Amino acid sequence: MHQHPELSNEEFETTKLVKEKLSAVDIKILDLPLNTGLVAEIIGDQQGPIIALRCDIDALPINEEADLAYQSEVGGKMHACGHDFHTAVIIGAAYLLKQLEHTLPGTVRFIFQPAEETAHGAEQILSTGILSNVQAIFGLHNKPNLPVGSIGTAAGALTAAVDRFEIEISGVGTHAAHPEKGIDPIIVSAYIVTALQTIVSRNINAFDQALVSITHLKSGNTWNVIPETAYLEGTVRTLNAETRNFIPQRLRQIIKGIAESFGATAELKWYPGPPATNNTTEWVNVAIEVAEEVGYEIEEVSLDLGGEDFAYYQEKIPGAFINVGTGYSYPHHHPKFAIDEAAILSGAQYFAKLAERALVYLSEIGNVKDAG
Ligand code: NI
Repeated sequence: MHQHPELSNEEFETTKLVKEKLSAVDIKILDLPLNTGLVAEIIGDQQGPIIALRCDIDALPINEEADLAYQSEVGGKMHACGHDFHTAVIIGAAYLLKQLEHTLPGTVRFIFQPAEETAHGAEQILSTGILSNVQAIFGLHNKPNLPVGSIGTAAGALTAAVDRFEIEISGVGTHAAHPEKGIDPIIVSAYIVTALQTIVSRNINAFDQALVSITHLKSGNTWNVIPETAYLEGTVRTLNAETRNFIPQRLRQIIKGIAESFGATAELKWYPGPPATNNTTEWVNVAIEVAEEVGYEIEEVSLDLGGEDFAYYQEKIPGAFINVGTGYSYPHHHPKFAIDEAAILSGAQYFAKLAERALVYLSEIGNVKDAG
């Protein structure tokens, strides 16, 4: 899989490979309207709850520079976020759970999700409706700064809500020698870029965390013309819904006020991405309990203002997103990023055990409810 990376929504060969691996041990692939990616299922002999394990399968448009025996054979494409590791772990967990089929107290669905990198794959899986009766969901991401044999997870957000915005400023173009005859959108942009920095520093509680960045600014195309328009693009990262709702309102206020003060107009376009991940305390506790049983070290997790579309599942289904240590390496999305393969087997054993425990746990809660 590492040698044949495929980009988001192009994971045709990868999907075929996963299908082959699962079919080889008679694991049922569900018939769903997905172009790439798949959902498989193991139904235990005992009727019971349904839980899901989710991994992602897509790669990135990066030329691999890691010196590996199994280096990417496709120029310009690479599994630089380790989604191949996630896939291997969940296939392994499926193999182990298949052996327990006769004693499994419920159903485990395995989500091999396409297009995590473009943040739309989770929505594709959710739109099939296959998760509507799932009671708990678990996902994983490798951590290149945690040693093999360790995991990290925590209640609440592990990754941020990732939103994108664009600003279009319209002024009046003019000859560079006659600025008084125009309205300079570059000056307006400069004030806006500066003022936006006060949102985090002056409008957000210092104990909250948020980020506002302008990452793209374009205007004009020569030295002796004051252009007519300017274009700005950027991103906002937040960890809770309240701050997430507040920031675009404040952005709009600042942009409009500044543009008006110069006689220009400005328009904000807002593109919401995935929300922040939201681990439930209950499932974090179960995940940590199982991790201790299999001999994992439990490491403190650091919050990350990166995004993860696993958050879309967590809007609907309680569960936990878990970081798995894969040894020290260059960071995610770096051309020399690499995984220590020693983490695969223990990861598979862990997620198999976690799935089994989650079913037992839900069955017991169900029994208590029935009795009560
Ligand atoms: Ni990733």
